[in-house]
Amino acid sequence: MSNQYQDAEWKESMRIRLDVNNMFEDKIGAEHGYTKEDVDALQEKVTKGHQAIKEAKEAGELGFMELPETHKEIAKEIKEFAEANREKYDNFVVLGIGGSALGNIAVQTALNDPYYNLKKEARNGCPRLFVPDNVDPTRLKSLLDELDLEKTMFNVISKSGTTAETMSQFLTAQAAVVEDLGEDAVSDHFIATTSKDSGKLIKIAKEEAIKTFYIPDNVGGRFSVLTPVGLVSSAFVGVDIEELLAGAEYMAQVCDTDDLWANPAYLNAVLQYLADQDGKPMSVMMPYNHALKDVADWYRQLWAESLGKEVDREGNVVNVGPTPIKALGATDQHSQAQLYMEGPYDKVVTFLEVENFKEELEIGSGYEDIEGVSYLGNHTFNKLITTEKKATELALTKQNRLNCTVIFPEVNAFTLGQFFYLFELQTAMSGELYNINAFNQPGVELGKKYAYGVLGREGFAEMKEEFDSRPAKDDSLIL
Ligand code: PA5
Repeated sequence: MSNQYQDAEWKESMRIRLDVNNMFEDKIGAEHGYTKEDVDALQEKVTKGHQAIKEAKEAGELGFMELPETHKEIAKEIKEFAEANREKYDNFVVLGIGGSALGNIAVQTALNDPYYNLKKEARNGCPRLFVPDNVDPTRLKSLLDELDLEKTMFNVISKSGTTAETMSQFLTAQAAVVEDLGEDAVSDHFIATTSKDSGKLIKIAKEEAIKTFYIPDNVGGRFSVLTPVGLVSSAFVGVDIEELLAGAEYMAQVCDTDDLWANPAYLNAVLQYLADQDGKPMSVMMPYNHALKDVADWYRQLWAESLGKEVDREGNVVNVGPTPIKALGATDQHSQAQLYMEGPYDKVVTFLEVENFKEELEIGSGYEDIEGVSYLGNHTFNKLITTEKKATELALTKQNRLNCTVIFPEVNAFTLGQFFYLFELQTAMSGELYNINAFNQPGVELGKKYAYGVLGREGFAEMKEEFDSRPAKDDSLIL
């Protein structure tokens, strides 16, 4: 059905839900579980936080909250551009890193065929998608060697327009295109996604007459998946980006209340906060659906860069922040589950459960006389993975381990859009609870500055001096 996300009944049936039963003492015991009173005790703080978030939104500081509205028209433009251009290219490459890459990967893995790049029929005329998301020379060279540049479009994404990793990728891809196809080919093979008024990328894009999409100034990298950062590649690979935004809009409506017991973003922020304060700072996200594997990676960056902070808003040193961890069910039952079951009581596991998979697959029914194998026959993999999730959930609960579940009726653009918004808002509320700025990332600057100094960037000579005079390493400690 087209535009099903405009139908109220369908939307309600596709609402993602948060099950926090196993965060409470009646399920996991009084030593580790919380009471409703523990949660209620934070209602006042949440109400103040809600007010602060609303004011910041009205002051134009929380751009991610405006996107479902402001990007409706932009999504239409992007869709038209992608529809007019995608069949010209066999490959679409995102050059970006961090918040300028992870959302692209998360959407692609969630919504397209698991072997999309390998299966022509799954692509339906859309290009293959590559997001190297690193500056590893082997990875990048191998990719550039593989691509027929004549049939490749690169989207250079950098909000700041100066990020060393992204600009190096761009310089290398641009040189390859010029060498293969000539100077005039650059504008046919590159688009840029960046800030409208600042940074070097916009300057280059203008000089080269490269088609450019803009990242709003008030949306930080890790909150930008629903701006052109994530929408352009998604449209090129055939995702319904208007449905993504509709999902976010729907979740914004669900979460438009300061009532903790009605707002899943705030309730989860509070429970995760309580756990962290209580010596359980490890926040594991464990989807039981391979399509959501990279959504957990997106969450890991969102949570880590937003909440890991040295100082609070008054400048006091606080060194706060839970540690987000990504896991995958059922794969990591054979890797991590032992630790989660019997290791320290320092974790909260957030399962992602999907009620309806895109496919149903029966398990083969051979070897009926071999006990220990034959019971699997005639079940489906759907039943197997869902049962494993529920079994792991119960096992953790029996071990008094905090866990909760985000339930997806299915994985589609509408539920994914909801999920992005839910966790972005949860992050904003967490910033209020920790009393920190969740929207900056001063901690990543120092390492960047040393690298600029060493690589000879103008204005960073002092950083090079500091780097060169670093204490020598003791060789006896390098074995
Ligand atoms: O969330 C963030 O702000 C960062 O992870 C950025 O997205 C990342 O550093 C890339 O920055 P830029 O888009 O400016 O190249």
